[in-house]
Amino acid sequence: MPPFHGRRLAAYERVVEEETLREVATWPVGTTFPTMPSTMRITLNVILRAVFGAEGEEFAELRELLPPFVELGSRLALAPIPQVDLGRWSPWGRFWLMRRRYDAIVDRLIDRAARDEHLDDRDDVLAMFVTSRYEDGSAMTRAEIADQLLTMLSAGHETTATTLAWAVERLRRHPDVLRELAAEADAGGRALRDAAVVEVQRTRPVIDQTIRQVKAENLEIGRWTIPRGHSVIAAIGLVHRDDSVFPHARAFDPARFVGVKPNLYQWIPFGGGHRRCVGAAFATMEMDVVLRTVLRQVELLPTTEPDERPHFRGVAIAPRRGGEAVIRRRVPAVGRAASAEGVLR
Ligand code: HEM
Repeated sequence: MPPFHGRRLAAYERVVEEETLREVATWPVGTTFPTMPSTMRITLNVILRAVFGAEGEEFAELRELLPPFVELGSRLALAPIPQVDLGRWSPWGRFWLMRRRYDAIVDRLIDRAARDEHLDDRDDVLAMFVTSRYEDGSAMTRAEIADQLLTMLSAGHETTATTLAWAVERLRRHPDVLRELAAEADAGGRALRDAAVVEVQRTRPVIDQTIRQVKAENLEIGRWTIPRGHSVIAAIGLVHRDDSVFPHARAFDPARFVGVKPNLYQWIPFGGGHRRCVGAAFATMEMDVVLRTVLRQVELLPTTEPDERPHFRGVAIAPRRGGEAVIRRRVPAVGRAASAEGVLR
């Protein structure tokens, strides 16, 4: 939890803004393009820096390895794990090969952290894993650290990227909101932007369900009695689309959340209870900063095209055409080049 709150969260804002500026500087003007490859790169780079504490060689290697690794992992997420290794040409064989490369890179990051004299001052999650101790005083093993980092990556990368692509998809179809958001970003405000992110997550939750197993003898839910051992699915999309929970549930209307905190038993894109998404505050900060930066840098042109359809990628649900956009530049090219250059490390 600590890295995802307070001082550390504020420190990551700068990282998110830098990554967004760098990406937006490459967007073509006046033609249709999908924004999701960009949002995937932004959220990947942000996690590599904020969670893995990666720089230099390891940053470059992970940036190359992880996109195909995550894509294959997403596709295999629901496939049974074979008991025998079917070789490097089989999907699982390729997966395990990439996993071994991943472990080797993380090993080097841990070595580097162990040698770092300023480890205590670092804000990344890997640094905290390396210094943390169990109750009996023992350290986390390398395998545990590698697993935990990979969990954060797979839980936090695609989810945030697909939500941002949906934000582009929704906002271009709601020009009034888009106009107000741009004016608000220029004026330094954020109330409507906060509400818009909440409404995007309500109307287009990228994780559609979360599962719990009944541990009590019997669980009473409404008129149902569910025995121990059974699984219960909270159907996130169904709750969000229920008119008795959200009036005119199918309408995209950020105004409903302006100055209003969502009820966390009704608005559940991050799940709920003890196992609610540990990265929720981090993701919310990230989406806010990406949107603010995009709104200040470019004008997203509205569209009357039909809504993009949902496409299930194995973990998250994305807009089928990748959150297409057409843009005009707002910031003059010279200033833009300079500010983008300033952030290239
Ligand atoms: C918009 C972005 C995100 C969405 C929609 C999302 C959604 C979710 C959902 C639905 C769960 C399951 C919660 C439950 O069962 O109640 C979850 C769990 C989790 N998420 Fe996220 N997440 C996002 C971003 C992130 C980020 C950025 C990170 C970390 C950097 C992260 C790390 C995790 C972890 C580690 C868990 C497992 C928590 C546990 O089991 O205790 N997520 N997330």
